[in-house]
Amino acid sequence: MTEETLSNLSHEERRFEPPAELAASANLTAEAYERAAADPEAFWAEQAERLDWHQKWDRVLDWDDPPFAKWFVGGKLNAAYNCVDRHVEAGRGDKVAIHWVGEPEDDTRSLTYADLQQEVNKAANALTELGVRAGDRVAIYLPMIPEAIVTMLACARLGAPHTVVFGGFSSDALASRLADCQAKVVVTADGGYRRGSASALKPAVDEARVKAADNGHRVEKVLVVRRTGQELAEGSWEDGVDVWWHDAVDGASAEHECEFFDSEHPLYVMYTSGTTGKPKGILHTTGGYLTGCAYTHWAVFDLKPETDVYWCTADIGWVTGHSYIVYGPLANGATQVLYEGTPDSPERGRWWKIIEQYGVTIFYTAPTAIRSFMKQGREIPDRHDMSSLRILGSVGEPINPEAYVWYREVIGGNRTPVVDTWWQTETGAIMISPLPGVTAGKPGSAMTAIPGVAAEVVNDEGHPVPDGSGGYLVLSKPWPSMLRTIWGDDQRFKDTYWSRFPATAERGAYYFAGDGAKKDEDGDIWVLGRVDDVMNVSGHRLSTTEIESALVSHPKVAEAAVVGAKDEDTGQAVCAFVILRDEAGDGGDDIVAELRGHVRKEIGPIATPRQIMVVPELPKTRSGKIMRRLLRDVAENREVGDVTTLADSTVMDLISGRLTSGRSDEA
Ligand code: WTA
Repeated sequence: MTEETLSNLSHEERRFEPPAELAASANLTAEAYERAAADPEAFWAEQAERLDWHQKWDRVLDWDDPPFAKWFVGGKLNAAYNCVDRHVEAGRGDKVAIHWVGEPEDDTRSLTYADLQQEVNKAANALTELGVRAGDRVAIYLPMIPEAIVTMLACARLGAPHTVVFGGFSSDALASRLADCQAKVVVTADGGYRRGSASALKPAVDEARVKAADNGHRVEKVLVVRRTGQELAEGSWEDGVDVWWHDAVDGASAEHECEFFDSEHPLYVMYTSGTTGKPKGILHTTGGYLTGCAYTHWAVFDLKPETDVYWCTADIGWVTGHSYIVYGPLANGATQVLYEGTPDSPERGRWWKIIEQYGVTIFYTAPTAIRSFMKQGREIPDRHDMSSLRILGSVGEPINPEAYVWYREVIGGNRTPVVDTWWQTETGAIMISPLPGVTAGKPGSAMTAIPGVAAEVVNDEGHPVPDGSGGYLVLSKPWPSMLRTIWGDDQRFKDTYWSRFPATAERGAYYFAGDGAKKDEDGDIWVLGRVDDVMNVSGHRLSTTEIESALVSHPKVAEAAVVGAKDEDTGQAVCAFVILRDEAGDGGDDIVAELRGHVRKEIGPIATPRQIMVVPELPKTRSGKIMRRLLRDVAENREVGDVTTLADSTVMDLISGRLTSGRSDEA
């Protein structure tokens, strides 16, 4: 973060008070801040009461051995029972849980809580039949169809941790995740719809299964939903492994007696990018995680389950889909929209049309989407009646003030508060956000930690910075939905999150989020983005090292350095610098296209570099560390900064020269 960004932010004078009506009926009010700070454990225990416990806990928090936390110790519950059955038992079985909207127009389906219960029970019985037992891992690689949610809940019901892999990831990315968590079963589909055409998913699973087997891991069964009806590739079906969903699930019994699991029983593993090439499997457990999701979804979105229609546009392959499509909203008995496709299919107003059709009241999306709508112009949303909206949410990256104000004005008709919610895969649930009925929002600021959460901005030594200055964002107290570890790697868990600011007797353990932030003159927090080698492209976390490894795995590449450069549309964009092997010569005319294609294949389209520059050298310090700061200058077309620590200061001239000699690819 630069001094320039810090000072720009302090010029933001606009404030938006909560609407009076909302303030008067808000779920959570200002008194909660103090009450929670005075006794956090009592506050969290109160939030845990939102759930149905089969057996109550005897201790709220066990923090005897930080950073390994246990929440609601001794309690027993079932996450799926809490998200589905209890609503049916309370007489709300006829309430719609999911209004599903397929990408092809008129392809819709609504599931009530009673329908959902039947589907989840059948899927749980089918998975049991396929050999899944409590503790086994199940991978889910599906488009945004109801079966994705049904499968997640069926796994939760069985106590089998799921790992959802985003459908846009390649077979390599899927294979490494299958092997890392040793998934026994994969649930997938023939394909899904994207931008009007059917795109296949099953072939990636076939490939990933072979690759995982090469790494010594055997996937036992693949359960396949027929979504598009497209023809499967020659030889794709393996009897004894592949099973159709409609054969295994549709005929299964809709009765299923659920078991209740320990509060700390693993619920899921979600892979996310870290600073090394290997993705981290973030482990979330049951009681604390579900408490965090239910509480925040109720408080931050002011959910009134009887009247609200909620819509979160995230993909279930990301943590936002886990916490704010599946576990939070369903635990709270909400009615929500689930949309399969892209915002612009078949026309650019598709999202706004859905809001109008279903009377959506709470809408949660990402800044990158908002910016792309801004570019298209307000005529498109203006064609739709979106007066049902009462709260707008933003997540995934800092929202720039202009996008915030446009969102509020054009989408929210100047009525709706915007909640800019800061959180991470690791935190499980929203940590820093305005409260819509309490906070006077400032465009661009995530404001303050929500009641129950303790956040600080600290300097290099871990001391809180004064208001008006910047530093590192930390969470200074444990919280129920915190990650419990990195799957199979406790040491990496400690090193990554808890060692940057070592615990002291006085302040205890600090969780370091990897983000830089500023406290303004009022003490409100402005999140400025990552301080490590993790990029944020369209709200998706990508690791520079992971993309570098992908590039270096290409036979023509000797060395690669990747940086995130500012991008008007996507927040950051992937920019790569590569040195070719001698025997590759100049790489040939198509080298840039070839390398972009290679990254797409190895990781997935979201990781495709916007720009690749073939360079003769990379800037390194004397100890051999790549100086990304300088590369970022080049990628962002800035004057190259201080090069005094460079081993060979002429290197930057060579690289900058290349940039103007036309070897970059702006496609
Ligand atoms: C960034 C997504 C600023 C941040 C839920 C964080 C944000 C990373 C915001 C986590 C926000 C997320 N303002 N930055 N409101 N929300 N981020 O794990 O850098 O995919 O560390 O979780 O996204 O990304 P993740």
